[in-house]
Amino acid sequence: MNLTNCYPSLSGKVVFITGGATGIGANIVESFCRQQAKVCFIDIQDKAAAELISRMSAIDGAVLPCYYSCNLLNIDDLKQSVARAINAFGGIDVLINNAANDTRHDFRNIDEQYWDERINLNLRHYFFAIQAVYESMKLRGGGSIINMGSMSWHACQGGMTGYTTSKAGIEGVTRGLARDLAKDDIRINTITPGWVMTERQKKEWLDDEALTTIKRNQCLASPLTPENISAMALFLASDDSRMCTAQNFIVDGGWI
Ligand SMILES: NC(=O)c1ccc[n+]([C@@H]2O[C@H](COP(=O)([O-])OP(=O)(O)OC[C@H]3O[C@@H](n4cnc5c(N)ncnc54)[C@H](O)[C@@H]3O)[C@@H](O)[C@H]2O)c1
Repeated sequence: MNLTNCYPSLSGKVVFITGGATGIGANIVESFCRQQAKVCFIDIQDKAAAELISRMSAIDGAVLPCYYSCNLLNIDDLKQSVARAINAFGGIDVLINNAANDTRHDFRNIDEQYWDERINLNLRHYFFAIQAVYESMKLRGGGSIINMGSMSWHACQGGMTGYTTSKAGIEGVTRGLARDLAKDDIRINTITPGWVMTERQKKEWLDDEALTTIKRNQCLASPLTPENISAMALFLASDDSRMCTAQNFIVDGGWI
C-alpha cells in the first residue's frame, strides 16, 4: 500500500525528516515524495540513503528527496543541517522527528555515559530539531511537527530503559510545547507505533515466538508495516488534521 497524491495540501510543502535512510523513516521519505512534497532527510547511513534515492528515481511522478549526512548526537550538526535545508528550500513546513536507537541493554550494567548516550540518541535531538525549525515555521505562518514515540513503555517492555524512558519523554515534549507553538499556528503531535516490521526488527528480534506474541497482543492480526505509520504521518502533516495538536496517535493494531 503506497499512497500517492492523496493529500493535495502536502504538494510543494518542505518536509524535514530525521533518520530517513532506513526503516519507518525511509518509508516516510518515500510517502511524502509521492505527495509531491519537497523532502530533506538526514541520517548517518550514507549508503542506505543513496540506495533509497536511487530506488525512488524509478517511481513515476515522485519528487526526489535531498539527503544530508548528519549525526544527531551532535546538536551543532543538526542545527547546521536544518539551516542548510531552510537555505535550499526557503523554509520548513513539516518536521518529522523519527531517528532513534532501540539497542537492548541490561539496567544493572548501565553507567552514566551509556545512559546519557541513550537519552541523547532517543530524546535530546527531538527538542533541538523543534527549536531549530521554529522561526522558519513561524515565518511561513504555521507548520506541523510529528514526534515518533513508541508503545514499548506503555506496554511495560523491559530490556531497554534508556530507550523507553526517552520515548516517554517524547510525549512530554509534545504536550509541553503544544501551547507555546500554537501561538504561531504550529501543531505538534506524537505518533505511537506498535511493533513495526522493519528490516532491523526482522533481523534482530523477529522469530516465531515474537510473531505469536504479536498475534496474541494485537486486536488486529496482521503485522504492522512502515506504510501503516506513514499513513498517519501524512494525515498529521496535511491540512486535513488542522485542528489536531498536543495529541498521541497510536498505530499498534490495538495492542495497548
Ligand atoms: N520498528 C518498530 O517496531 C518501532 C516501534 C515503536 C516505535 N518505533 C519508532 O519509530 C521510529 C523509527 O524506527 P525504526 O524501527 O524505523 O528504526 P530503525 O533503527 O530501523 O531506523 C532508524 C534510523 O535512524 C537513523 N539514526 C539512528 N541514530 C542516528 C544518529 N545518531 N544520527 C542520525 N541518524 C540516526 C538510523 O541510521 C536509521 O536510518 C523510531 O523513533 C522508533 O523509536 C519503531
